[in-house]
This record gives sequence, C-alpha cells and structure tokens, in this order.
Amino acid sequence: MGGAGRSLLRRLPTAAAAALFLLLLLPPTAHSQSTPKENVTFSFSSFDDSFRSTNLTVNGDSSIAQGALQITPDTLNQASYLVNRSGRVLYSQPFKLWEYTPANVNGSSSSSSSNNGNSSSSSNSNSNSNKYVASFSTSFTINVFRQTNTTPGEGIAFLIAPSLDAPPPGSDGGYLGLTNATLDGNASNHFVAVELDTVKQPYDPDDNHVGLDVNGVVSVANASLDLQIAPVAPANYTLWIDYDGGVRRIRVYMAAEGRPQPPSPVLDAPLDLGQFVLQRSYFGFSASTGSDYELNCVLAWNMTVERLRDKKRLPRWALGLAVGLPCAALLLGLIAGLYYVRRRRVGDDPSMLAGALLRSLPGTPREFDYKELKKATNNFDEKMKLGQGGFGTVYEGVLVGAGDNGETIEVAVKKFARANTKGQEEFLAELTIINRLRHRHLVRLIGWCHQNGELLLVYDYMPEGSLDQHLFGGPEKPLLNWARRYNVLSGVASALHYLHNEYDQRVVHRDLKASNVMLDRDFNARLGDFGLARALDVDRTSYADLELDGVPGTLGYIAPECFHTGKATRESDVYGFGAVILEVVCGLRPRCEVGGFHYLVDWVWKLYREGRILEAVDVRLAGDFVGADAERLLLLGLACSHPIPGERPKTQDIMQILLRSMQPPAVPPFKPAFVWPSAVPDGDGETTTTTTASGLTGSSYYASSAGWTSNYVSRDGHVSEDDVPMV
Ligand SMILES: *[C@@H]1O[C@H](CO)[C@@H](O)[C@H](O)[C@H]1NC(C)=O
Ligand SMILES: *[C@@H]1O[C@H](CO)[C@@H](O)[C@H](O)[C@H]1NC(C)=O
Ligand SMILES: *[C@@H]1O[C@H](CO)[C@@H](O)[C@H](O)[C@H]1NC(C)=O
Ligand SMILES: *[C@@H]1O[C@H](CO)[C@@H](O)[C@H](O)[C@H]1NC(C)=O
Ligand SMILES: *[C@@H]1O[C@H](CO)[C@@H](O)[C@H](O)[C@H]1NC(C)=O
Ligand SMILES: *[C@@H]1O[C@H](CO)[C@@H](O)[C@H](O)[C@H]1NC(C)=O
Ligand SMILES: *[C@@H]1O[C@H](CO)[C@@H](O)[C@H](O)[C@H]1NC(C)=O
Ligand SMILES: *[C@@H]1O[C@H](CO)[C@@H](O)[C@H](O)[C@H]1NC(C)=O
Ligand SMILES: *[C@@H]1O[C@H](CO)[C@@H](O)[C@H](O)[C@H]1NC(C)=O
Ligand SMILES: *[C@@H]1O[C@H](CO)[C@@H](O)[C@H](O)[C@H]1NC(C)=O
Repeated sequence: MGGAGRSLLRRLPTAAAAALFLLLLLPPTAHSQSTPKENVTFSFSSFDDSFRSTNLTVNGDSSIAQGALQITPDTLNQASYLVNRSGRVLYSQPFKLWEYTPANVNGSSSSSSSNNGNSSSSSNSNSNSNKYVASFSTSFTINVFRQTNTTPGEGIAFLIAPSLDAPPPGSDGGYLGLTNATLDGNASNHFVAVELDTVKQPYDPDDNHVGLDVNGVVSVANASLDLQIAPVAPANYTLWIDYDGGVRRIRVYMAAEGRPQPPSPVLDAPLDLGQFVLQRSYFGFSASTGSDYELNCVLAWNMTVERLRDKKRLPRWALGLAVGLPCAALLLGLIAGLYYVRRRRVGDDPSMLAGALLRSLPGTPREFDYKELKKATNNFDEKMKLGQGGFGTVYEGVLVGAGDNGETIEVAVKKFARANTKGQEEFLAELTIINRLRHRHLVRLIGWCHQNGELLLVYDYMPEGSLDQHLFGGPEKPLLNWARRYNVLSGVASALHYLHNEYDQRVVHRDLKASNVMLDRDFNARLGDFGLARALDVDRTSYADLELDGVPGTLGYIAPECFHTGKATRESDVYGFGAVILEVVCGLRPRCEVGGFHYLVDWVWKLYREGRILEAVDVRLAGDFVGADAERLLLLGLACSHPIPGERPKTQDIMQILLRSMQPPAVPPFKPAFVWPSAVPDGDGETTTTTTASGLTGSSYYASSAGWTSNYVSRDGHVSEDDVPMV
C-alpha cells in the first residue's frame, strides 16, 4: 500500500474518535415535549456475563455468574476467598437526578409536583428549594445466602454512586463496599444507599435491618426487619424503593419473591437527594463480606427514573452539524491524506474537534496548561525523567494545588515525542480509551494537555516505579518478596481481565511487559501505557501500520502469530502475560541465555518436563516461596505461552487460577509447535470468545517440527535444537 493510502488509514481512527466524542455529547435521543413527565426505564429479568460489556460496570470482587449479579464472590469452595471482600455493580449510564430551577420562575418547565409552594416536608434545606429533583422507583430481587452453620456477614446495598469507580480499598467488613475507615461520613462521598445489613455494628440497631446511608455507613434512618435477610432456609426477596423527588421522601418495601408489593413500607424517611448526590449519578449495588461471609446476589432488577431534560439542548441545526462535522472532517481528512501526505501537522481538524469535545465532557480528566506542566517538571528536567517509552518520555512532576482539594500532588507526565508524526493520533487513541477506563489496577489518568503542538498526558505518580526495576533494578532496590510477586501478578491479571471483558469496548493492551507494570505505594500492580491500546471494535489493531521498528514491545513478550498477522489480540496479550509470569517467578527476562536456551519459556518447559519445575524459581528468593503457588504460576505461565493462540487460557480462568479456586491447566510435556496458518481460529475477538477451550489438552499437542522455531529463526536468527519438539 502506498504512503497516501497508509496515511489515510491512520487518519480514520482520529475522525472516528472525534465522531465518538460528538455522539457521547449528544443527549440520548430526541424526545417529544408533550408529556409532562417522562421516564427512563430498564429491566433485567436475569443477568448474563455479556451485559458487563454493554450495560453494567462490574468492579471490585463482583462478577456476573449463574444468571445473577454476584456482588461479592459466589464460590463456596474456599472460605478464604469469600471473606473480607467488597464489590460493586453499577448500571453504566448515569442519570441526571436534579437540576436548578430559576428561583424567580415557577418551576414551570418541569413538573407540577415540584416546589408547589410547600417543600417543607423535605428537610430544612433552603438552598435546595431551587432544585428540581427527579423521582425514581426500582424493584429488585435478591438472594443473600448463608452457608450452613455459619453467621452471615456483612450486607448488601442499593447504591446511588457519583462514579463508576471500584469500591475504595478497605471497604470490606462493615463498610459494605460503600466507604472505608478514612472516607466514612465525608460529604465529598456523594453517595446515598439503602443497606440490608446482617451484622450489628456498634451504631446499628441489630443484625437484620434496613438503613438509609448518606455518605457513610452510620445510617441516617433505620428499621429492624421481620424477614430474615440471610435466612437459614434460603429465600429470595423482592425490594421496592420509591423515591419521590417532589416531597423528597424515600420508601422501601420488602416481601418474599412472587408476593405483591406490601401496602406499608419497612422504611420511610425524608431524603433530599439534591443535597447529596452529584447531578449525574449511577445506580447499582454494592456489598461486602467480613470475617463472616454470605453470598450477595441480585437476581433481577427493574428501574424507572424520571427523565430530566437538558435545558441547553442543541438546536436542530447544531444537531445536524454535530453529525455532519465528523463526516466533513473525515472527508477533509481523506482529501488531506491524499494530497498532503508529507505535510501532516499536529493540531489539524479532528484533533481540535476532539479536544474541544473532551474539554466540555463532564467527569473527564482535566486539561492542564502547558506552562503548568513545564513548571511541574522543572522544564522537563533530565533529573525528573522517569523513563522512556515507545512514544515519548515520562517525567516526574509536582503540581501545586492541583489535587481534588487543592493539595499538592505528585504526577507522572508523559510527553509525546514532537518529531513523531504519529504522535497526535497515538495521543487521541490513548485519551479516547484511557479516559473511560477505571480500574484499581490501571494507572489513573489525571489530565492532559495539547498546546503548541505538544501532547502530554498526566498520570498518577507511581512511587515504586515499574516491575522490571524491582526485578532487575540492582542492589538499591530491595528484593521483591514472594507474597508481593504473587500479588502483583494477580493485579495484572485482574487489569487484563477488565480490559478484555469488562470495559464496553474490549481493549487489547498490545504491549504487556514488566516495564509497563507499575507499582503503587503498597506494591499493588497498576497497568500502564495504553499508548498502543485500541478498542477492538473501532480499529483492528495492526502491527504493520506502526512506524516503529517492526513490532512494539520486546522480543519474548510477543506471541508468535503476531509476526504473521501483525495484529494484537486478547490472545497475544495473554501470551505477554505468560511471559511476565515466568519473568516474575524466575527473576529472569523472557529473552535471556539460560540453561543453553535463548528464551526463558523454553528452559522452564524443559524443567517442567523433567519434573523439576520448581528449580526455575528465582534463586535470589533463597527458597522463601510457597511451592504450590510457584508451581501454579509456572504452569499458568507455560499455558499462556502456548504457541497456538486459541489454546491459551482466557483471563476469566486466569483469575480463577490465581485466586486458587481453579487448577492450572494441564501442560503438555513438550512445547507444542507453532503451526501457521493456525488450525484454531486466531485472535479474532469474536471467534475466540465462542470457543470454550480453557486450557491445554493432550489433543492440542502438535508434533510438527515446522513453525515456531523456524519462524523465530527467520526473524531473529536464533537457533536452538531444544526448541524443536521431540516426539
Ligand atoms: C413514570 O414513573 C412513575 C413511577 O415512578 C409513574 O408513576 C409514572 O406514571 C410514569 N410516567 C410515565 C409517563 O410513564
Ligand atoms: C443493554 O445494552 C443493549 C445494547 O446497548 C441494549 O440494547 C439493551 O436494551 C440494554 N439492556 C438494558 C437492560 O439496559
Ligand atoms: C407562579 O405560580 C402562581 C401560582 O401557581 C401563579 O399565580 C403565578 O402567576 C405564577 N407566576 C409566574 C411568573 O408564572
Ligand atoms: C405545608 O406543610 C405544612 C407542614 O408540613 C403542612 O401543615 C401544610 O398543610 C402544608 N401545606 C400544603 C399546602 O401542603
Ligand atoms: C420487573 O418488571 C417485570 C414486568 O413488569 C415484572 O414481571 C418483574 O416481576 C419485575 N421484576 C422485579 C424484580 O420487580
Ligand atoms: C479509603 O479509600 C481512600 C480512597 O481510595 C484511600 O485513600 C484510603 O487509604 C482508604 N482508607 C483505608 C483505611 O483503606
Ligand atoms: C473529606 O475528604 C476530603 C478528601 O476527599 C478531605 O480533604 C477532608 O478532610 C475530609 N473531611 C473530613 C471531615 O474528614
Ligand atoms: C434507628 O432508628 C430509630 C428511629 O427509627 C432511632 O431511634 C435509633 O436511634 C436508630 N438506631 C440507631 C442505632 O441508630
Ligand atoms: C431464587 O431465585 C432463583 C432464580 O430465579 C431460583 O433458582 C431459586 O430457586 C430461588 N430460590 C428460592 C429459595 O426461592
Ligand atoms: C478479615 O478482616 C478482619 C478485620 O480486618 C481481620 O481480622 C481478618 O484477619 C481478615 N481475614 C482474612 C482472612 O484476611
């Protein structure tokens, strides 16, 4: 393909990103003005794992399994896996829950029930009398299961949350996935919840009550229940929660599943939502377990929310423009691509459009002034340099007064290389994706800057640097102990699982390696550098269109099929993860000279075959590790390194294996040969999701001596007889 065509291809995602932002900005749909009150409704009669990519955001220890939301883990295999957990599942779309009504106008536009001259039934808030608050009603069916002869704990709550964020750390036990010891009761939490609590805390009436929680777990209203939330004989209950924004009261009803809504509520309390929650908030559930545990399931969920219209809606012509512009931009892009191949500049139309749109989106990372970042990094001082990535340099920075509450914060500033003409598109790709990714094991994006042709992203500062620094950093870095290594790998797996499955666009990381795994203060893994990540359904990722020296990443992390397809897939990410596992357990880089081999994986495979796999464990640990866990990890590492993409485990299984609730897959004694073209559908997201292969089986063992080795030889010039499978 000629230069023009290539440039054109690269331009497409930019325009697509711009179009995406425009679509995000638009109000959901055009609606008629005739009815005074309109509702938005949704209804789940059961839950399927596919919802997590479209409708629901699943965070913390929650999952969707067996047709239900498992707000806390649902496996009964192992009590240790069930205790001290917290999770949240939220409907991914926010709802507008209140709006200002001009004080001198009679709430005319909205509804008759608002401010009818007597809002005194609400609390004493004068400041809120000029807010119109939406009404909502919901019903949901729960099953809180208590294991025989155990005491249940801790509880489940219906939640109105300010964001799709995971529950805070330390939100297990009595904190119900809502807050933690630090945050509890703080008005900046902006949440309201209806709790069903099965443990009596000092501030609770008993161990079986319903409570109204505003920004904290010490309920502002409570009522003991006659029905047992977690009965000895399992039962399903339906709850109805009606909120009247006019009189500002909340009422909670509860009955056995299948029974009609009872006439009188179990809890009836005043609640001025407008005072506490953010204007756009999310509905969902949270739950926790403590030293005592229960299974907290939601089986079905209906929701009706009054629709508040956006006052400043785009007029019709603007709507046309909004749809038209990206098309025009696309066209312009195509033309520009064809005629000005060599004169592409940073800051052309699509990016400015996207920039403007980003700026106006609520809840997005903030925009920084270039001067501010320049100052923060001491004019991009070499001494502040943290690292050098594929697309730019990362500096440490200190931002005075930039924290949420005006405090000084430390940040990592990624400055994209000016000379790199791809910079702008990488920037947009990264921003589009990272902006919507929220996970406790991903590096958080704080803000961005796009000025003077400079592209910068501002991230949370990771005090402990990257994983490879800890594995190979030399004497000044203390040795990463076994517990931390295991924990880091669990974190990476959970981040990868999120990227592959939970985020609604299915992201592949593309560049998984130890230097991209950052460590926070507590040595928790945070996956960083999504510079190469692309949403699978927006743009088929392709190694070939990268203006790098062939392939991003480092040899040893790259799946063999990538050299043929040039495409990153979820399977190739899993391959990279396998390389990281082996690296972490063995303390050796994936590409290294060891035992006569050139790749770590080959050596480990040989030790496994000879029944001495534990000899692969990092000698620097001096035997201070858990044997069973080390074996588990090494086998998982080998399974992920399977040359056939379809035979590698999926992240779902990887998580279970790391949680020790599933055995690692059976690994064949010899590394199977890489076969091309592969008999198994390779990494094309949709095909592989339908295959159920979750491990290595005897039948998947290929006896061919072609493929893997010879491919590597032809690319890399390395020859090793041991690479050839023996039969
Ligand atoms: C909206 O929902 C409420 C209950 O929450 C209901 O009373 C009302 O009739 C609904 N309005 C419409 C237009 O369906
Ligand atoms: C889930 O998302 C799909 C696709 O956006 C949509 O068609 C469906 O109505 C949603 N379901 C619910 C219950 O919101
Ligand atoms: C405000 O409402 C009252 C009674 O509902 C009505 O008499 C009055 O004319 C209204 N004022 C305006 C400015 O609409
Ligand atoms: C207004 O509220 C007060 C106190 O709650 C009540 O006594 C009165 O009847 C209410 N008036 C109207 C018009 O609703
Ligand atoms: C949700 O609504 C449907 C239809 O009205 C009803 O059949 C179902 O029982 C409701 N589910 C819950 C949990 O209220
Ligand atoms: C509570 O959560 C906040 C925010 O995530 C965190 O900074 C804090 O350390 C947590 N506190 C505890 C006791 O875990
Ligand atoms: C509430 O939280 C903020 C940070 O989120 C903190 O600055 C403030 O001190 C907290 N307030 C209280 C009373 O703890
Ligand atoms: C529970 O609510 C009642 C009022 O319904 C109140 O008197 C009591 O103090 C509350 N109990 C606790 C422990 O907060
Ligand atoms: C609760 O609901 C689930 C799903 O509908 C059903 O399988 C189960 O039998 C119910 N349990 C009880 C005790 O009714
Ligand atoms: C669970 O948390 C409690 C309270 O923090 C602690 O005492 C207990 O050891 C924890 N249990 C496990 C298995 O971590």
